[in-house]
Amino acid sequence: MPASKQIAIYPGSFDPITNGHLDLIRRAANILDHVVVATLRHDTKHPLFTTEERMEMISQATSDLPNVSVDSFDGLLVDYAQERGARLILRGIRAVSDYEYELQMALMNRQLSKELETLFIPASEQYSYLSSRIVKEVSRLGGDVSALVPAPVSARLSAKHSSL
Ligand code: PNS
Repeated sequence: MPASKQIAIYPGSFDPITNGHLDLIRRAANILDHVVVATLRHDTKHPLFTTEERMEMISQATSDLPNVSVDSFDGLLVDYAQERGARLILRGIRAVSDYEYELQMALMNRQLSKELETLFIPASEQYSYLSSRIVKEVSRLGGDVSALVPAPVSARLSAKHSSL
């Protein structure tokens, strides 16, 4: 990828990817040269899905977007971004309550690397209440999440919960 291209990293747990994440990826891909959706490998939050499963679901959901790629990372996000030649970190903001944590991360990342800028993208209103955590809880309790996640994710959630 030439250095002049605007590459952005969209990092997260994506356990699993939701329609809210997907909306943000589509909107970002519309204005940036390349978006790398990067899922955290050793997540202390004990993800329901393995890194490979999370990456597969993201790849399936973004297969129609030629300037979006999927990867995983470990260690510091700033080191990974530098490795990928990215100068932008994308994060979605759903509500004011997200802002405090997101600001803390953005400022810490800036402290670690002056080269990187964090771009906050407001979530679309219809997804402002959505999170992977709430989707997993509803699905685990037998609720219908098919309007909230891509179809293959919904199927995998049902399969995962019926096998637990
Ligand atoms: O979807 P999440 O769980 O809110 O994503 C959090 C994530 C993966 C972006 C954050 O935990 C992260 O960047 N982890 C990598 C470790 C790191 O660089 N920490 C210092 C920055 S605060």
